[in-house]
Amino acid sequence: MSQVPKRLRTGASAVAVGALLSAPMILGTTTTAVGAESHVDNPYAGATQYVNADWTANVVAEAAAVEATDPTLAQQMLSIKSTPTAVWMDRIGAIEGNVDGPGLKHHLDAAVAQKSGSTPIVLNVVIYDLPGRDCYALASNGELPATDAGLERYKTEYIDEIADLLDNPEYAGIRIAATVEPDSLPNLTTNLSEPACQQSAPYYRAGVAYALDKLHAIPNVYTYVDAAHSGWLGWDTNSVGAVQTFVEVAQSTIAGFASIDGFVTNTANSTPLSEPFLTDSSASINGMPIRSAKYYEWNFSFDEADWTADLYNQLVAAGFPATTGMLIDTSRNGWGGDARPTAVSTSTDLNTYVNESRIDRRIHRGAWCNPAGAGLGERPVASPSGYTASHLDAFVWIKPPGESDGSSTEIPNDEGKGFDRMCDPTYVAAKLGNQLTGALPGAPVSGKWFSTQFQQLVANAYPVIPADGTVDPTPDPTTDPTTDPTTDPTTDPTTDPTTDPTTDPADTSSPTVPAGLTAGTTTTSSIPLTWTASTDNVAVTGYDVYQGTVKIASTTTPSYTVTGLTADTAYTFSVRAKDAAANVSAASAAVTASTKAATTTPAGACKVTYSTNDWNTGFTGSAKITNTSSTALSAWTLAFTFPAGQQISQGWSAIFTQTGTTVSAANQAWNGTLAAGASVDIGFNATHTGTNTAPSTFTLNGTTCS
Ligand code: BGC
Repeated sequence: MSQVPKRLRTGASAVAVGALLSAPMILGTTTTAVGAESHVDNPYAGATQYVNADWTANVVAEAAAVEATDPTLAQQMLSIKSTPTAVWMDRIGAIEGNVDGPGLKHHLDAAVAQKSGSTPIVLNVVIYDLPGRDCYALASNGELPATDAGLERYKTEYIDEIADLLDNPEYAGIRIAATVEPDSLPNLTTNLSEPACQQSAPYYRAGVAYALDKLHAIPNVYTYVDAAHSGWLGWDTNSVGAVQTFVEVAQSTIAGFASIDGFVTNTANSTPLSEPFLTDSSASINGMPIRSAKYYEWNFSFDEADWTADLYNQLVAAGFPATTGMLIDTSRNGWGGDARPTAVSTSTDLNTYVNESRIDRRIHRGAWCNPAGAGLGERPVASPSGYTASHLDAFVWIKPPGESDGSSTEIPNDEGKGFDRMCDPTYVAAKLGNQLTGALPGAPVSGKWFSTQFQQLVANAYPVIPADGTVDPTPDPTTDPTTDPTTDPTTDPTTDPTTDPTTDPADTSSPTVPAGLTAGTTTTSSIPLTWTASTDNVAVTGYDVYQGTVKIASTTTPSYTVTGLTADTAYTFSVRAKDAAANVSAASAAVTASTKAATTTPAGACKVTYSTNDWNTGFTGSAKITNTSSTALSAWTLAFTFPAGQQISQGWSAIFTQTGTTVSAANQAWNGTLAAGASVDIGFNATHTGTNTAPSTFTLNGTTCS
């Protein structure tokens, strides 16, 4: 069974490229010429969303497979085949394209082609490859380890490559909404007791901040940070910590709060949008608060409408702008079908009342893997009405329905994916109150097509999908219904370079190598670079700046200031020119320049107040650093030595490095300036063995503090 959709899928996606791209190519070019999209508050408003022909092909194949036995179901499938779904960049290889489908450039080109006239189009992309990914589960473990080297690869081979593609002027006419790293920051709120999450924590923070910096710099890209779902973060005790983490990560980015356009909840989960028969989570039944029922465990947030409203209020109170928008992944939270309650329960027993009234039919709200009984939810739509307090930008389908959450048994694979017993229907899970997981049997590895699940999702869809041949209420006007992507299995778009409409096969030349690269007046943390504009090739669209062998920036003008550097350090830079056809020149001659030495704080001119909050073998350490000199610092590093046995696992408001007992805490990009008399608070979580004695000496930029 699993072979059938796979074979059809490969062939289908091949034809989709030709079908969607060859003819509309001229349209795509015209769109680019019309002009770049400026950054708006809600990118979905007035826009269509990109339809992934690769997903459509799976749906069409599935309809063909069930046609003989269940023509109604087949018809329902065809009705929703043009629903927009997100494109997941779930490993470095996904950027180029791999066995799971074509790459990011293909989708960007297809989105340009799907754009109709001046109606904006949103392409939903998921950024999902952090070092130590999925630290609290196994099913979506990734390819990059939670190490410094893993983070470096994440930055240079993953985020830089994605940002570079998105930054291409050819795509300036489409809107790109990036779901940023599902489950990562939520795991840091609730799952730091897990060693894998402790190990991943600093890399999640640094990786997400890096991704936000790179993505926010592109005007037509919108960042939506993942905020789990109501059954995970909805308790006050969890939401307060989550918001604090969101604030800290936002403040560690170059643009601060502005680097985050919004938050997305329920990604790949099936928590309902609303519980129609349990609308008031503070109500009581028989004198007992309904939120005290076993199912809700005192959580006030019963559904995603509750959670997004609560989250929005907390975010804005914590400093996020009022324009912050929310998305809800409604791809699999419909809960229709025969098991859906049709009225509120009449029971006077609290648990029976809740269990008979709730539309969420999972045995436990923590059952996340291929849950039996789920259905497709609300179709993607901008600014859905009826949820004013939630400040929704849109309902979106981030998890493509039909793609597995994890395998039900162990399946070897080369993606780093593990076998999580939460996906095994025979497993009694302690995390689910010692109940069977309720996962569907026969599931493949996460991300692979899972026919049984898709059939169930369509059958249990809510709102129900019409089966009378009419198209679903939210069709995509730009998709040509006459195109059947499954008809030609012979063409594979990922292997034939000539099907790429954006590359002019005649243009194999590269732009001229930039000349005259020089470094201007440096500061302690920045070096300005200038070079001569390329004039021989009118198609030059910009330049890539390299630090050593690593690309650090793209610019359209022949100048760039490198910031965030360490004082008194030598750096080597070079520049490459690129053109509209994505040809890149060789590197220019390199220039080496040193940042200025940092002003040394005179002896005794800093003060550090250090305190800890200890429990068992863990503690939180806090240090208030005050610049008591009369000179402002533009960069600072606090150094100290632990007496023995202390190990930092995670820090904030500074970049912590620990070697043996020696710790260094360097400023973040946003708090490097420390005016005369000013203070900065930094902190960290750590473990200790024995007595947790405080360090005796602190030095700031090499000077001993009082
Ligand atoms: C998987 C990814 C996949 C995504 C969408 C995740 O659970 O880990 O590989 O791309 O789901 O299906």
